[in-house]
Amino acid sequence: VPGTACDLVLFGAMGDLAGKKLFPALYQLHRAGLLAPETRILALARRDHTEAEAVAHIGEQLEQHLEHGDEGSSASREGFLRRISYRQLDFASADGYRVLDDWREQGAAAAAGTVIVYYATPPGLYPTITGHLAGLRCCDSKTRIVVEKPIGQDLASARELNDQLADVFHEDQIYRIDHYLGKETVQNLIALRFANNLFASQWDQNHISHVEITVAESVGINGRWSYFDSAGQMRDMVQSHLLQLLCLLAMDPPSDLSSDSIRDEKVKVLKALRPMTPDLVNTHLVRGQYTAGTSEGRPVPGYLEEDGANPDSHTETFVALKVEIENWRWAGVPFYIRTGKRLPEKRSEVIIHFKPAPHYIFDPDQKHLANNKLIIRLQPDEGMALQILTKDQGLSRGMRLRQGPLDLTFAETFDHDRIPDAYERLLLEVIKGNQYLFVRRDEVEYAWQWVDQLLANCHECDAHPKRYAAGTWGPVASIAMITRDSRSWYEDA
Ligand code: BG6
Repeated sequence: VPGTACDLVLFGAMGDLAGKKLFPALYQLHRAGLLAPETRILALARRDHTEAEAVAHIGEQLEQHLEHGDEGSSASREGFLRRISYRQLDFASADGYRVLDDWREQGAAAAAGTVIVYYATPPGLYPTITGHLAGLRCCDSKTRIVVEKPIGQDLASARELNDQLADVFHEDQIYRIDHYLGKETVQNLIALRFANNLFASQWDQNHISHVEITVAESVGINGRWSYFDSAGQMRDMVQSHLLQLLCLLAMDPPSDLSSDSIRDEKVKVLKALRPMTPDLVNTHLVRGQYTAGTSEGRPVPGYLEEDGANPDSHTETFVALKVEIENWRWAGVPFYIRTGKRLPEKRSEVIIHFKPAPHYIFDPDQKHLANNKLIIRLQPDEGMALQILTKDQGLSRGMRLRQGPLDLTFAETFDHDRIPDAYERLLLEVIKGNQYLFVRRDEVEYAWQWVDQLLANCHECDAHPKRYAAGTWGPVASIAMITRDSRSWYEDA
């Protein structure tokens, strides 16, 4: 079903995000017939290109970044590129913004559909762009604004940014992206939890002993040293993606799938996070920074030797945390979370460890096997596996137990479906005007409040983080943190 007609305005159209993610995602929507025929795209950037040059450049980017098998026909790519107009714009100068009104008022679909404005620019430009949009005819109470993370560096700056947006736009016009919410398997958490009573009835401290969330990346800083160094893994990944995953795993059932029902429940989790006091920070937090090592078989430099590095930097590239949620559902259930750059592989997964049966009657040597685990693989090899215990087959085995997975690998099970990129889903939801996959103002601010307190109580954060060699699973202290509770990270189990 083609989406509703809309006009898309893309600030930063020649940048990395647009080239690598946004145009490929829009192209996939076009290819799938999900963009209305009238939908047009206005690409805005500072570079002085003619329209033909700019569109040709976008076409090249598209070919470069489309996954193998997703290219479609050249006629389809050309059809997509015909939707695009290009205008050069100095984002800081109010005068130039009239090009938006002029463009909007040309063409058949003008004024029919909603205008969606995507800020694919550094966040420092958001206030300027917002201020200049305010006076335009094309921006009204129906306009939708899409902004990328980071939303601020801390609570104060996030509030300021949110206030600036709120001066011009209502909250239901603002779509804050956390691209993890667009990942198919992340949305599947909602289906898994609330469509299967089997799990819904087991999802609490009576049945679950602990939860692990790992978001491991094999990449390093990818030329983004100066941005990354001012943020670190805590602000870059934990405040956003990891806390969002935690919320989806821990929230109470929403009463329906509406945006606010879901976001209200997520906010309740953020408000119930146990504050990280100085004592807890000492025992529940491990920070690491990678040194030279190997990545996918190649030697790679350490963080302090990357291009543009400040050799004295104390910024962490790895975080492990033990997080607790102070409510009835989760009292006493730790959530161990860890995320880092230059780990051995790219792997995001959640492991739910269920409690063992109350009375154990099998071989005492196998007692350590006696708990079920649900493994939710977010990327790659999206899928789920439930580790269950069965009897080992064979006459000589007696009642020996065997642990094996009930495995659901999405690519095999649903082989007719390609797994869409997160940005395809997110852009489609903006076009539909559905905010459930976008982060509401209060979510961002509660998440910052918790992270700010943690950082303020972290005396070690001024010191050098613990070292780990690139290509390993982070500092040994992260293993010690979980071993202290007589547990281990899943791959070490
Ligand atoms: C971004 C972070 O939000 O997410 C990056 O800024 C990180 O540092 C990236 O590498 C990871 O996303 P994905 O989709 O590759 O897991």
